[in-house]
Amino acid sequence: MSERSVVVVQGRSDPEGLPGLETLAGEVELRYAPDLDRLREALPGADVVLGSNFRSGRLREVWSAADRLRWIHWTGAGVDALLFPELIESEVVVTNSRGIYDGAMAEYVLGLVLDYAKDLGRTHALQQARVWQHRLTERIAGTRALVVGTGSIGREIARMLRAVGIEVTGVGRRRRENDPLLGTVHGREALDRLLPEADWVVLVTPRTPQTEGMFGAAQFEAMKPTARFINLGRGALVDEEALIAALRAGALAGAALDVFGTEPLPPASPLWTLPGVIVSPHMSGDFFGYPRVLGELFLDNFRRYRAGEPLRNVVDKAAGY
Ligand code: GLV
Repeated sequence: MSERSVVVVQGRSDPEGLPGLETLAGEVELRYAPDLDRLREALPGADVVLGSNFRSGRLREVWSAADRLRWIHWTGAGVDALLFPELIESEVVVTNSRGIYDGAMAEYVLGLVLDYAKDLGRTHALQQARVWQHRLTERIAGTRALVVGTGSIGREIARMLRAVGIEVTGVGRRRRENDPLLGTVHGREALDRLLPEADWVVLVTPRTPQTEGMFGAAQFEAMKPTARFINLGRGALVDEEALIAALRAGALAGAALDVFGTEPLPPASPLWTLPGVIVSPHMSGDFFGYPRVLGELFLDNFRRYRAGEPLRNVVDKAAGY
């Protein structure tokens, strides 16, 4: 490729660009676009967008300014906040950062499982109050988890939970046999049948029009009253009102939520204080040093792009992941 690349770094301003990006400075023109107006100005003539978040304004609103765009690399795993019909129909290639968050998210799930089973929240509270109160705690070995979403994140979660003696069943988009890790992966249609058997229900499927609202009143009612629900996927996968009602009715014992319909979770949400609920601010995949790993992936893909080689982590735009 002979023409000089123009890379728009969306959602970030100059000093906080991804680690490693500065090594491209002599070779490409870098344009930082922390907000929608700057994005509109930066897009004409740009062939690459390095996208981080579109809370600062969605690309769709300035899409007509993208006159030379060929490739968007997304620093997240889920691309639901990025995709829109004009982009899906265009020739622009989208890549994501799948793979980078898997290990941290699997560890996070294990942490939540242990937090619940070993009653750690209560231990912290009793210590604060200087109360010595002996209790019994749950065993996790021999319990059962249902992991909904069997991409690289779900598979790493399955591997981690198996390592501590939890029996894991996977639900993917459609049924497949002989998966080396999960054996049979069940299709979405099996979800309601499998829910009553699970002690842990872990949701990590991508948000697409097919998965939005896949957990509603019927799914929560199908769960064991002792089960805990863990959502690290997207808030929109869940009917939050139905979850709140199910928790209040005792249809399930708890919910650890890292993602919400509205983020940040509004202070008035009952989820902050409902017994059995653990709220965290969309952080399960983010570990110390991860921006450097994101930078390495982008730089590797950028070299491939310039060399005309196949890119890593190409997203199936029509499928939505
Ligand atoms: C975060 O939620 C991501 O998709 O990477």
